[in-house]
Amino acid sequence: MSEQSRRPRKPAKPYRRPQKDPVRILAFEALRAVDERDAYANLVLPPLLRKAREKEGPENFDARDAALATELVYGTLRRQGTYDAVIAACVDRPLREVDPPVLDVLSLGVHQLLGTRIPTHAAVSASVELARVVLGDGRAKFVNAVLRKVAQHDLDGWLEKVAPPYDEDPEDHLAVVHSHPRWVVSALWDSLGGGRAGIEDLLEADNERPEVTLVARPGRATAEELLREHAAVPGRWSPYAVRLAEGGEPGAVEAVREGRAGVQDEGSQLVALALANAPVEGSDSRWLDGCAGPGGKAALLAALAAERGATLLASEKQPHRAGLVAKALAGNPGPYQVIAADGTRPPWRPGTFDRVLMDVPCTGLGALRRRPEARWRRRPEDLDNFAPLQRALLRTALDSVRVGGVVGYATCSPHLAETRAVVSDVLKQRPEAELIDARPLLPGVPALGEGPDVQLWPHLHGTDAMYLALIRRTG
Ligand SMILES: C[S@@+](CC[C@H](N)C(=O)[O-])C[C@H]1O[C@@H](n2cnc3c(N)ncnc32)[C@H](O)[C@@H]1O
Repeated sequence: MSEQSRRPRKPAKPYRRPQKDPVRILAFEALRAVDERDAYANLVLPPLLRKAREKEGPENFDARDAALATELVYGTLRRQGTYDAVIAACVDRPLREVDPPVLDVLSLGVHQLLGTRIPTHAAVSASVELARVVLGDGRAKFVNAVLRKVAQHDLDGWLEKVAPPYDEDPEDHLAVVHSHPRWVVSALWDSLGGGRAGIEDLLEADNERPEVTLVARPGRATAEELLREHAAVPGRWSPYAVRLAEGGEPGAVEAVREGRAGVQDEGSQLVALALANAPVEGSDSRWLDGCAGPGGKAALLAALAAERGATLLASEKQPHRAGLVAKALAGNPGPYQVIAADGTRPPWRPGTFDRVLMDVPCTGLGALRRRPEARWRRRPEDLDNFAPLQRALLRTALDSVRVGGVVGYATCSPHLAETRAVVSDVLKQRPEAELIDARPLLPGVPALGEGPDVQLWPHLHGTDAMYLALIRRTG
C-alpha cells in the first residue's frame, strides 16, 4: 500500500443543491431575452415580474424584489460597455468567445459588485448560485473565478485600469467610463458642443433612471388636482406636468386610468406646447399630427385644440399604432379624427392645415435613459435608413400646411444628421418656408441653444433630448 493511499482522505464535500433566487433568475431571463430575441427590457420585464409573483406568491416576491430585479436588469444593460471592458480584463480570451449566457451572468455579477451597494461576498455568492442554476456547476466555477478578480477593485479602480486616458483619446475614454458606444459619444458631443464637463454631465444623465412625468390633459385634468391627490411635485417647465415621487406608479393614478392624464416626458409636452403657441395668421381650426403613434403628443394637441375650437387629424402609418392613438385620444372633449396613412403619400389635400406636427421616426438617441439596451442596438447606418424618410415627411408637412401656417419638425434624437441637416436640406428647396424662433415659445426654459430651433437635454432640462424646428410657410 503506498504512503499516499494510507493517508486519510479528505471527505468529499456533500453535494449541495444550488439555491434558487427568483430575483436573479428573473434578471438573467430578461437579459437573455434582450440578447437573444432583441427584446426590449421595458416590454419583457412586466410579464416576467407578473410570472414571478404568481409562482413565488406575493410574500416571497414583493415590491422590493420587483424593484431590485428591475434595477439589476436596467443597470446591467446601461453599464454594459463599462462592464464588458472590466470582464475582458479578467478573462484570458476575447469576450466574443465567452458564451453569451455566461457573459450575462458575469455582467449581472459585475453590476452587483461595481454598481450597487450589495456587499461583495453576497454579490459573488448570489452570482455563483445563479450560475449553478442556469449554467451548471462547471461554468459556475469560471464565474466564481472571474468575479473574485473583479471584486479586487471598485468601479473607479477599474476605470483607471481599463479606460484609455482622456488626454490620449477623449471619446474612447468617455465611451468606457460612461458606457456609451464611441460613435454615440461623438454624435452627442457634436450636437451639444462645448468642453468635457457638458458631455460628461450628459452621458451621466443618460445613465440615470428618469422620473415618471405625467401630463394633465387640458380641459380634462389639472396639474393641481394631480398634485393634491398624489405624492408628486410640479413639472419644471410645462404647466401641465407633474413628476411622481420615487416609486410612484402611474397605474395608481385615477386620472391616468381614465385617460384624463397620461405618462409623458416634459420634453414631449414642450414640443406640443411650442407648436400650439406659435403665432399663425388668420384661421386656426385645423391641426395635423402626421406621425402620431402611439399618441402622446396627439393627445395633448387634441386637448389644446379642443380649448380653441380646433380639430386634430392624427395620422399614423402603422395600423396597430393608429389604434394606440385612438385609445390615447378617446374622451377628448373636442372633435378629432385618427387615420392610418403613410405620411409620404398623404390622403389629405395640400394646404389644408393651420398647424402641423411631424414627429418623425428617428434613432431615439435622445431617449437613452428610457431604453437601456437601445444604445447598443443602434448602428450609424440607421441614420442613412431614416434620412430619406425624415426628409420626405418634412416635405409632406410643408405641403400640408396653408400659407401662414406653422410646421413643427421634431425628433427624440439630438443627432445633427436627423435634426438640423434634415431641416436645412429641405428648406434649401423650399424658398416659400422659413424657420421661426422657437425659443420665445418656451418661456422660462433656459439653455435652448442659439436658435432658431431648440434642443432640449437630459442634463440641462431633465427631459429627453427632444429637438424642435418651427417653420412657417410664407408663400
Ligand atoms: C417618433 S414616433 C411619434 C411619437 C408620437 N408623436 C408621440 O408623441 O406619441 C414616429 C411615428 O411615426 C410612424 N411612422 C413611420 N413611418 C411613417 C410614415 N411614412 N408615415 C406616417 N407615420 C410614420 C411610426 O410608426 C411612429 O409611430
